[in-house]
Amino acid sequence: MLASMHVSDAAAVAAPSGAVPKDTTRRTLLIVDDEEGPRQSLRVVFKSEYDLLLASDGVTAIEMARKQKVDAAILDIRMTGMSGIEVLQGLKTVDPHIEVIMLTAYETIDTVRQALRLGACDYLNKPFDIPAIRTAVANAMERRSLSFEVKANSEKLRDLADELQNQRLEEAMVRSRGEIYASIIHDINGPLTIISGFLQLINQRIGDESRIEGEELENVKDRLRRITKQVTNCIEISRRYLSFLRQNPGETLRISANQSLADLGELMRVHPAVKSNELIIGPLLEDVTVPINGTDLIQALRNLIVNALQSTAEKHRVEVTGTVMNEPLKLSAFQDSSEERFIGKDTFQNGAPLLALSVEDTGLGISPENMKKIFSQSFTTQESGKGTGLGLSIVQRLVSRAKGSIHVRTKVGQGTKFTIFLPLQ
Ligand SMILES: Nc1ncnc2c1ncn2[C@@H]1O[C@H](COP(=O)(O)OP(=O)(O)OP(=O)(O)O)[C@@H](O)[C@H]1O
Ligand SMILES: [Mg+2]
Repeated sequence: MLASMHVSDAAAVAAPSGAVPKDTTRRTLLIVDDEEGPRQSLRVVFKSEYDLLLASDGVTAIEMARKQKVDAAILDIRMTGMSGIEVLQGLKTVDPHIEVIMLTAYETIDTVRQALRLGACDYLNKPFDIPAIRTAVANAMERRSLSFEVKANSEKLRDLADELQNQRLEEAMVRSRGEIYASIIHDINGPLTIISGFLQLINQRIGDESRIEGEELENVKDRLRRITKQVTNCIEISRRYLSFLRQNPGETLRISANQSLADLGELMRVHPAVKSNELIIGPLLEDVTVPINGTDLIQALRNLIVNALQSTAEKHRVEVTGTVMNEPLKLSAFQDSSEERFIGKDTFQNGAPLLALSVEDTGLGISPENMKKIFSQSFTTQESGKGTGLGLSIVQRLVSRAKGSIHVRTKVGQGTKFTIFLPLQ
């Protein structure tokens, strides 16, 4: 039969090689007419091809469509009770993919246009001609098959989009792992610079001597001790990152703030960035223990100090101070502006007591334009090859891990003050 040929042809064309699941179930045709005569003649015409549903009014028709899947409907436009147009709207609300053929008698062209606008796929004049209505229904069923294919394909597309999104996430994770490797190199670079400096000094001292004694020997021993300390530092840094890479956030130790500040002084003592600048690291009046991995604290402060030392080529002063605050911060007092930024409001555990550690310099300050970008990864104003721009991102990561926050205040031409707030409980 012509109609069934159309349906199976459409399925065969739209679903080659079985890529899209084929809808093989028999099609359902809904016939809605308040007159018994046309309803019955349509039943006779289509009963062998489709599963039929017959309704003599709109309410019943919509109810039927709600209860079971309807592929196409033949709908009389003029009925008592609900009009054909209203039934059309109702059917399209139940399932926008139901294909609806309107039967019209002497309606104005405006009503027909309205039906088409509301999604009817075709219209035929009553009394209808049997070959014409067969063709109209076959076309409607074909469109329905296609819309089924489109739906299946769009579901496939959605799956594909989800897969791509996952892929992107995985790539981002791999990228962030790459960043962590870059951080290791960045952080290990500091101690390595110091080790290399001491080794050069020892080499100069020893020269061609075959024996070293007395004060010289003590000097060499002292430098070897410092080298050992820096090597330990390197090992600690790589351990910390390795544990991070294994997705084991590492033990949170309670460390002495003053011990960390002393270690930091040691670490910075021979750092090349100090040059002739004045670097003052003052201990807390009363020591406190901080729930943070010791190297995290040292690394964060070290990055801030190096930045402060690099804040101008002129001789200047960098001061590190710490205080314990017995009140939580009044966060509303911090308004981001061209001279001020507060980082980490969302993850900050703002409960007393808090440790505030500041690194303040008398350098050139940060321009309003750069202020917006300083925490972005790879933002640097250093000459190419000198800075990675990762320093402050690392500070941000370490501080947020300890549920802390960072405040920056700057004044162009006067200097900058970075303060790290760390919860002590
Ligand atoms: N104390 C400061 N004074 C002036 N500018 C600063 C200060 N701290 C940071 N900046 C600005 O923020 C930028 C980014 O700092 P960040 O530590 O992230 O990277 P970097 O110092 O440029 O590179 P790296 O840390 O790898 O050496 C710096 O290039 C600088 O422009
Ligand atoms: Mg830096």
